Amino acid sequence: MDKHGPIADGWSRRTFLKGAGGTLAVATVAPGEATAMASEVAQEAVARTQIRVIVNGTTHRVEVEDRWTLVELLRDHLHLTGTKIGCDRGECGACTVLLDGRAVYACSQLAPWVDGTEITTVEGLEEGGRLSPLQQAFVDGNGPQCGFCTSGQLMSATAVLASNGAPTRAEIQQGMTGNLCRCSNYNALVEAVEAVAGTAAGDAAADDGGSGISTLATVGPPTARVDAVERVTGRATYSGDVTLPGMVYGRVLRSPHPHARIRRIDVSRAEALPGVTAVITHERAPIVWGAGSVAGGRQYNDQVKEITTQRRHLFNNPVRFVGDPVAAVAAVDRHVAEEALGLIDVDYELLPFVLEPEAALEPDAPKVWPEGNLSPDVENRHEPMVTTLGDVDAGFAEADHVFEERYSTAFVHDAQMERRTCLAQWEGDKLTVWTPTQGISNCHRDIARSL
Ligand code: FES
Ligand code: FES
Repeated sequence: MDKHGPIADGWSRRTFLKGAGGTLAVATVAPGEATAMASEVAQEAVARTQIRVIVNGTTHRVEVEDRWTLVELLRDHLHLTGTKIGCDRGECGACTVLLDGRAVYACSQLAPWVDGTEITTVEGLEEGGRLSPLQQAFVDGNGPQCGFCTSGQLMSATAVLASNGAPTRAEIQQGMTGNLCRCSNYNALVEAVEAVAGTAAGDAAADDGGSGISTLATVGPPTARVDAVERVTGRATYSGDVTLPGMVYGRVLRSPHPHARIRRIDVSRAEALPGVTAVITHERAPIVWGAGSVAGGRQYNDQVKEITTQRRHLFNNPVRFVGDPVAAVAAVDRHVAEEALGLIDVDYELLPFVLEPEAALEPDAPKVWPEGNLSPDVENRHEPMVTTLGDVDAGFAEADHVFEERYSTAFVHDAQMERRTCLAQWEGDKLTVWTPTQGISNCHRDIARSL
């Protein structure tokens, strides 16, 4: 199913997808200050279009900037945050809505394109104040886990059932194939759609599998999650859904080079752009956030940070990988912040690099750190970290077969659907931070130390 939009004249999907993968960070300035800057920016020559769109049965007449996406219109301007932004580039399906009954990615539609159309979001699925049968089936079948993909899954499933009252399992899977679930709860989602369509193969819970043991009545029966209703209605609030008066948007400029020294960085043109409130670089923010190596998995420990020779800063010079942060911009909206990134001039001296670990161990290999390319342990010893359990040689000697092969795994862990968004608010000496993390204490301590 093609959930992408058409390419239009002027602002194209490519234009607004370019560079959209940067980390979104959010800071705040005084509300009055930001509002004044926003109106100053509004007077700049940004093309605008008056549109009329029906969203969940309500007619809206809105003047949109031609560069806004549909998901931006829904979330930032109509305050319908049930539709989520995962990738913001037409890959994950978290932003799926119905456009004239057809499932589309709202991040891949420009706002002017939806003039005269009818949009349905997850907030519009309830019927007479009650969950729709599909929402109820998602609740009953434990469809939402983290729930970030749930609204998009519901919209695609709604489109499937609207076009085919009795879809086969393969047809349901085909209709929802554009919706990723990082929690990998695909079977539960498909079974929920089957339950509504009445096409389920059988009640798996009641099936004793030939064991003769009946389903337990009091221990282990399916139980809906306590927050399932919030997640199937779009009412669950994630970090990226929180907004505050006067908040500004952050964007990060990242290195396009795997290894380079920054000879000069000129942010004057970015700072002069109306609507930009701050630009920071390695010269302005010498903040240590961790050790450069894995250091036995303790790179974020206070003690390791104190002694390690491989200190990683918020912004590094030299940069050591494609994507290493070089500068960050805060501005009154995400488009101004994005534009400002393009106005930062960085003069890089390209340095040699290698891509394979074996090449990095060669004596004449380019050095990622002055001390070399082996990660130090927690006492700064640059030696291979070897863990031995039992008598390996004896184990091989006794084995019936010995297979030798090279195995490797990705260094970067799989990404979650929810973005690494962060919103921060100063109130006097108190800083409140909203961010999705399992390491609340680490965040708390690191931010306090850095400030
Ligand atoms: S497809 Fe739109 S946010 Fe991922
Ligand atoms: S429930 Fe699907 S991404 Fe978490």
